[in-house]
Amino acid sequence: MSDKIILTGDRPTGRLHIGHYVGSLRNRVVLQNSGEFKKVFIMIADAQALTDNFKNPEKVRQNIIEVALDYLSVGIDPAKATILIQSQIPQLTELTFYYADLVTVARLQRNPTVKSEIQMRGFNADIPVGFFTYPISQTADITAFKATDVPVGEDQEPMLEQAREIVRSFNRIYSPDKPVLIEPKIDLPSNQACLRLPGTDGKAKMSKSLGNCIYLSDDSKSVWEKVRNMYTDPQHLQVSDPGHVEGNTVFTYLDAFVMEDSFAKYWPEFSSMDELKAAYEHGGIGDMKCKKFLYSVLEETLTPIRARRHEYEKDIAGVYEILKKGTDEAREVAQKTVDEVKAAMKINYFDDDAMVREQQAKYNNQ
Ligand code: TRP
Repeated sequence: MSDKIILTGDRPTGRLHIGHYVGSLRNRVVLQNSGEFKKVFIMIADAQALTDNFKNPEKVRQNIIEVALDYLSVGIDPAKATILIQSQIPQLTELTFYYADLVTVARLQRNPTVKSEIQMRGFNADIPVGFFTYPISQTADITAFKATDVPVGEDQEPMLEQAREIVRSFNRIYSPDKPVLIEPKIDLPSNQACLRLPGTDGKAKMSKSLGNCIYLSDDSKSVWEKVRNMYTDPQHLQVSDPGHVEGNTVFTYLDAFVMEDSFAKYWPEFSSMDELKAAYEHGGIGDMKCKKFLYSVLEETLTPIRARRHEYEKDIAGVYEILKKGTDEAREVAQKTVDEVKAAMKINYFDDDAMVREQQAKYNNQ
């Protein structure tokens, strides 16, 4: 068994959608089942969600169960992965406070994610401190569990970069001989289409506020409605016209979801995406046919997810039990790291008999 440890997570601000699925969730299940990892931690980052939803705690509170149900329904298995709730692990706050010493305001302002969110929300010096410093708290999330691998979407790269910097600073200052903290690496999906799945309207990103998401919990009927109305190629007016696949959302989704046997099952006229794309570009393939194919492919993935979700929905108390068990276990792991961190920082006074003896000797000699 390797020493590799996974930590990843999501903010509970809404149900998870198929962008989350291809960008990260699907990969997590593969990693969880690979047997390659000593531990897999999956965090519901409610405290981080509060950094920009602090006026709306009810939203965060209601979405914890949604995200937990989404996790379980895609196949995250509590016997193999530890699901935890961030706010219930005070050790993370403790680490955040010490790591904050190692980061400058200028560095946070240069963090591309923070920078763009500041711009988007029009913040100046009125930015809430908790929001501004969440990269530090995310570093605590990752390092508390000694994570080596963080499977997330590419939008999280700046957070990982910041985490690695904090780890290096900490180890250099406090534990140069035997590093206490581990530098994490990001695990991105290998398929380009999965890196950032656009919204059904063709806009850059799926987002709840744009109403362009297909949720893992959507029923078949709404999935079909969303696929039917999907953005394709605005110049492809007649079936016989040549079509464009570049920037055509239906094709981007197909690239992310088509499996080896999808053509044989649902569109035997073709045998690969390359063939279908060539035919579409040549002309003669209608958008509706492509959409029906996409719908079948999506449904094959979503049907078992939906079924598992309905099972778990029958026992919400049981789901909270899973979360509590995971959180309790995670808290113990985080406490061990806090102990090591405090020892390295020499702020473990009550566990440090040698220090007491040394100091006693100093006074005896006076
Ligand atoms: N920032 C992540 C997101 O917005 C959620 C998150 C919080 C996270 N803590 C984490 C992801 C630690 C990976 C590791 O989706």
